[in-house]
Amino acid sequence: MKVFMMAASMRKDSYNKKYIRVAASLLKTSVEKVNIHEFEEFNSPMYNGDIETSTGVPEDIKKLSNFINEADAVIISSPEYNGSIPGTLKNTLDWLSRLKPVTLKSKPVLLIGASPGALGAVRGNLHAKIPFQILGCYLYPEYLGLSKAHEAFAEDGSLKDKDQKKKLEKILQDFKNYAEKLTSK
Ligand code: FNR
Repeated sequence: MKVFMMAASMRKDSYNKKYIRVAASLLKTSVEKVNIHEFEEFNSPMYNGDIETSTGVPEDIKKLSNFINEADAVIISSPEYNGSIPGTLKNTLDWLSRLKPVTLKSKPVLLIGASPGALGAVRGNLHAKIPFQILGCYLYPEYLGLSKAHEAFAEDGSLKDKDQKKKLEKILQDFKNYAEKLTSK
């Protein structure tokens, strides 16, 4: 199984980037390939129907779509902004939805998230569920959020708390089994 992984934050020291890197290191021993990408590789303009009509869907969005299409499953770690999905991620999903066939259709997707707050971006990911489901992906029903993310990582990037690591390992293995069932022919 090939897995596309990305944090939905462009910030250099992003906690979600750290979280997705830990997730990738935990998952890579049990799947064929993990492809981890940075959100800023796919920097797109705000959706504008006139841009779409004149120059089409941006090349970076097509690049992102190709990486996702090549994968059997997708894992995104997203922050929450004002209790909801970051506009940057929503904008990216809106552009992706303009490609036919729709990029995420029938793709198993796991959402996780990290935030310095007490809720670990859970509210944002509840809102993120809606566009992901509208795009027709098989969204994994469980969600894992890392709260107090500013205190969660050791110098080497690992998670300090063993329970947090165990929870992440469990959801990754459960998601892998779910994705394998969905993608087996
Ligand atoms: C935030 N942040 C935030 N955190 C949270 O737990 N709930 C929230 O509703 C918000 N809202 C919010 C709005 C905006 C515009 C910004 C910029 C930030 C804080 C946010 O979780 C924090 O900046 C994280 O560090 C962002 O994730 P990365 O970049 O570290 O991955």
